[in-house]
Amino acid sequence: MQKGSKDYKASFKLKNGLTLKNRILMAPMTTRMSFFDGDVTKDELAYYALRSGEVGAVITAAANVSDLGKGWEGELSVENDVHIPSLTSLSNVIQINQTKAIIQLFHAGRMTNSKILRGHQPVSASAIAAEREHAQTPRELSETEILQIIEDFKNAVLRSYKAGFDGVELHGANTYLIQQFFSPHSNRRQDKWGGSLENRYLFIETLVDEVLKVTKQFKRPFAVGYRFSPEEFETPGIRLKDTLYLVDKLAEKNLDYLHISLNDYDRVSVSEDYKEASILKYINDKIDGRIPLIGVGGISRKKHLLEALDNCDLVAIGRSILAEPHWVSKVFSDREDLLNLSIAHEDFTDLEIPRSLATSLVHMMKGQIK
Ligand SMILES: Cc1cc2nc3c(=O)[nH]c(=O)nc-3n(C[C@H](O)[C@H](O)[C@H](O)COP(=O)(O)O)c2cc1C
Repeated sequence: MQKGSKDYKASFKLKNGLTLKNRILMAPMTTRMSFFDGDVTKDELAYYALRSGEVGAVITAAANVSDLGKGWEGELSVENDVHIPSLTSLSNVIQINQTKAIIQLFHAGRMTNSKILRGHQPVSASAIAAEREHAQTPRELSETEILQIIEDFKNAVLRSYKAGFDGVELHGANTYLIQQFFSPHSNRRQDKWGGSLENRYLFIETLVDEVLKVTKQFKRPFAVGYRFSPEEFETPGIRLKDTLYLVDKLAEKNLDYLHISLNDYDRVSVSEDYKEASILKYINDKIDGRIPLIGVGGISRKKHLLEALDNCDLVAIGRSILAEPHWVSKVFSDREDLLNLSIAHEDFTDLEIPRSLATSLVHMMKGQIK
């Protein structure tokens, strides 16, 4: 295909029949705005409403599928039927002007602590602490618990459907539990769930297959996507070679899309064997058109969008839409000169972002908060 030739404004149909009105999605971004129990707050609804309506789909902040999977305070939850009414109001505010609502489902695994878990020890594939300050050593999950977590994901998928969402994204990225099973750093198990690359993939394969069995019964189009991080910096850790194995396997599943997690869409691998092109291009070449790929990372201008689309089918935009809720309409109508790509402290109220988020956002917005 000729470079820059994908029509980013054109609609895009996913395998299960869900149609996105254009190729742009809002990237999943944690808001830390939910109630202590994971119910959606009015502030959060206003935050999403402001950013819906222009993008093809909004992928919500990560939502936990079980109490032990909670990663931080203010996190959205899908762990119990009691959340269905609140989740329904969330899907409703997103679904304006045909924007589709996709909820991101996750379990934090070892990336949490006993304070957040109300006294319980975090769990993971193995009892290995993450390489970060103050990391607690998790407890190794038993086989029964592993199967229960897969059930928790399935129940969360069913609740998401009942709450009116158009799809779910399984969060296999950013070092959380699903990734912890694939990683040789966090998974040192000796049983069938660990050891070789194939064994470390077993949790992902079982989870995806089981979730797809649930969605097969649904009466309306419902997308299932999968997000992954291409490499880890720890040794041992996931390398691009392992991820190429993962995407090759997942491309054969009846998933609707794969979604890479990157901060820069043109980032090059740390592995010496893969320096010739961007990570996105290596992944796209491996997929070879078998399943749509969402690219992401640092897309703030139309030129980035077009460049990214040379190596993927859809694009997710995070920080630019956080700072500029009308990013899509301004870029689509060639009014890039009007884009506000940084957030002034005075803008927090108009942007429906609570001031309490300012500190954590300053770190994640890389100088975009002035
Ligand atoms: C405030 C914030 C919260 C985020 N929360 C999540 C999350 O809940 N789940 C996830 O997969 N990625 C999360 N991310 C990563 C984004 O989805 C995205 O991959 C990253 O910001 C790079 O894209 P961007 O440059 O367009 O922002 C978050 C990023 C930011 C800035």
